[in-house]
Amino acid sequence: MFGRIKPLDAILATAEKKSLHRSLGAFQLTMLGVGAIIGTGIFVLTAEAAQKAGPGMMLSFIIAGLVCAVAALCYAEMASMVPVSGSAYTYSYAVMGELLAWMVGWALVLEYAVAAGAVSVGWSGYFVGLLREYLNIGLPQEIVNANALIAHVKLAFGATPSAELSSALEVGGYINLPAFVIALLVTWLLVIGTKESAFVNAVLVVVKITALTAFVVLAVPVMNSDNFQPFTPLGFGGVSAAAASIFFAYVGFDAVSTAAEETKNPQRNMPIGLIGSLAICTVFYLLVAAGVIGTVGAQPVLDAAGNGIAPGNATAMAAACASIANDAVVCSKEALAWTLREIGWKQIGNLVGLAAGLALPSVVLMMMFGQTRIFFVMSRDGLLPEKLSTIHPKYKTPHVVTIITGIVVAIFAALFPVGALADISNSGTLFAFAMVAIAVMVLRKTDPGRHRPFRTPAVMITAPLAIIGCFYLFFSLDWYTLRLFVGWAVLGLLIYYFYSRHHSHVGRGLVEVHEDDDDIPPSSVPPLPGI
Ligand code: ALA
Repeated sequence: MFGRIKPLDAILATAEKKSLHRSLGAFQLTMLGVGAIIGTGIFVLTAEAAQKAGPGMMLSFIIAGLVCAVAALCYAEMASMVPVSGSAYTYSYAVMGELLAWMVGWALVLEYAVAAGAVSVGWSGYFVGLLREYLNIGLPQEIVNANALIAHVKLAFGATPSAELSSALEVGGYINLPAFVIALLVTWLLVIGTKESAFVNAVLVVVKITALTAFVVLAVPVMNSDNFQPFTPLGFGGVSAAAASIFFAYVGFDAVSTAAEETKNPQRNMPIGLIGSLAICTVFYLLVAAGVIGTVGAQPVLDAAGNGIAPGNATAMAAACASIANDAVVCSKEALAWTLREIGWKQIGNLVGLAAGLALPSVVLMMMFGQTRIFFVMSRDGLLPEKLSTIHPKYKTPHVVTIITGIVVAIFAALFPVGALADISNSGTLFAFAMVAIAVMVLRKTDPGRHRPFRTPAVMITAPLAIIGCFYLFFSLDWYTLRLFVGWAVLGLLIYYFYSRHHSHVGRGLVEVHEDDDDIPPSSVPPLPGI
């Protein structure tokens, strides 16, 4: 099982041929991280976290941030040592062999593609709000969610008819059209070779930080401490479940680790960039969460039996929210804008909505780009059909894999609620992070003498903590998500045994590294301008 290992020296020899231009310092890395991290998580999923944990979501943000911090320190050692494309997939190939690498790559599909779907749905919520507020256009329910379709499917699969399902059939929709369209639009941009320019990236960092700062400045001073009680209405289980979901808000820091080869003095600057960006986001997230809780309250809506409803259960949520005229932040698809409008800052709320509307598509772009790159590398290793890595003659982009990815992402986005997609994405990410932490420890034992530009501090404590943290969050995801993950893993194993194992280049004795191929797509997250 561990037999097929891609030789690390071959990977590194090729990577070294690339001219390393070490230009990034601690500040640039930190900003790079903040730009890649802030997105749907805080702008949208705050409502989901409140639905799971109530005010206790403050603890959830801290727990998820701590797990990311230890995972990030492990990621950074690997990224600085194996500075090549393919991220966790490539590290695993070099350290733990082809089967586990395949499983990691397969899990990364969940991380990137499903996350791109989740962010598209998050964007759709804000887009619908913007149309309503600025142009007075109310899109019909039929085209902003797929709740009625989901209800039909549940009934077809034998669900007992209930008030919740009838309500979904009556008022629910059939497709989330804005989410579907934005996913296809981003796909088209990627096919024609659009890369986010460093300038656009920097502008969006400023837009996002300004929006969150405005939120905090307006909400925090008018908080009411009574809103923090009861603090954990659904117990500590709810806090853990919310931590597992809100983990999504921190994903993206891998962008910092993968910039390791362009970093000056990585031993010093890498941990500052990683921990710094995570710390800044955690502080913002906690202030924003406190602002939401303290102003409009964050108590979950309950079902008829008085139990909390899983936010991924779109039909049940929609029914419960309809019964209170959607008058709760947990019912909002644009949590931060909604909160500001509720506390009397309508125009600023709309501007925060506009900030999210502008910034979220770039997160979709980064996620989808990450996905196409992983597929690209896997297909060049022979584990997926090589046709997938065909490059477009004019645009020089891997258009086949991009179009396939884009269509699948658009379908996810059209049909599923944001919380369910984010949870599924988290399951893949947590698996990949745990594997990276294991790989770091394995490599310290099997290859202690290798040059490590960045060493994870106290690795024998940090890496096990990362593994335990990832497992804890993984098993705090709901049962439905875990079943999907297992189904996905089984499908992956079948494909591996029936296809990939026989087509693998390493398995056929070909050792090749594609780092210096001219046509390999470049990195998705550019450094800031002027550096
Ligand atoms: N952290 C990114 C977001 O919240 C994925 O959108």
